[in-house]
Amino acid sequence: MATELPTTDSRISPSLIRQRKGGTPLVCLTAYTYPVARLLDPHVDLLLVGDSVAMVLHGHQTTLGASIEMMVAHGQAVMRGSARACVVVDMPAGTYEDSAAQAVGSARRIVDETGCQAVKLEGGVDMAGRIAAIVANGIPVMGHIGLLPQSVEKEGGYKIKGRTDENVAALVADALAVEKAGAFSVVIEGTIEAAAADITRRIAIPTIGIGASPDCDGQILVIDDMVGLTVDRVPKFVKEYAHLRSVIAHAAEQYASEVRNRTFPGPAHVFSGSNTNGGDDA
Ligand code: KIV
Repeated sequence: MATELPTTDSRISPSLIRQRKGGTPLVCLTAYTYPVARLLDPHVDLLLVGDSVAMVLHGHQTTLGASIEMMVAHGQAVMRGSARACVVVDMPAGTYEDSAAQAVGSARRIVDETGCQAVKLEGGVDMAGRIAAIVANGIPVMGHIGLLPQSVEKEGGYKIKGRTDENVAALVADALAVEKAGAFSVVIEGTIEAAAADITRRIAIPTIGIGASPDCDGQILVIDDMVGLTVDRVPKFVKEYAHLRSVIAHAAEQYASEVRNRTFPGPAHVFSGSNTNGGDDA
């Protein structure tokens, strides 16, 4: 329930993110769980509970596997695990496209049930009306333009945007529409570098790049990609700052060996029965 969640007073607000346009780059990462949110919170400005959770944690082929219940559950966990980051929760596909009323209802449910600061949705010119309606109802919105993972089936793959003049013009129109609709920031994903840099110069809200440009006002990566936990395809734009795949595989190998040769559990991991002061804690 929203009442059990931490207050948002001490958090970085969407309007503070908005004011950081052109300043020190905004540090953003996705987070889906309580322990990872706790680890990331001191280091980031913004945590996105991305619908990438459907792929990263639930094993779906695309983000279309995300549901509003899934986003709410992970949003609550990230809110419990963070105290200062601005927390944004993705609106999953199918929860906002049909009408402004549907979009406002879904956004309201996400904010009420998680306590998050803002929601994110994908689309530019076509979704500007939905963004404006949610903002008019007092809920801050982050836009998302360029490569749109929720459209990957329709587009037949993860296609980089901005390769033609016509496509760059469409991207610029999307960015301007999202800004005019009242979004406090916009993710630019999977574009030619110069297009993202150009959009960053043209709009007054912060651009958050992923596979975009170092000139964006901030950067975001999927946390599992960034720490080297992704077991399937790692996109070209990802830099792995750690290699947790091999750390986990190595730990599992050692554990399996010690269980099989009975060296785990050792004396330090069992209860001797000699303590008569009442039950000892695990
Ligand atoms: O769902 C997600 O993780 C995202 C990021 C890629 C920006 O939308």
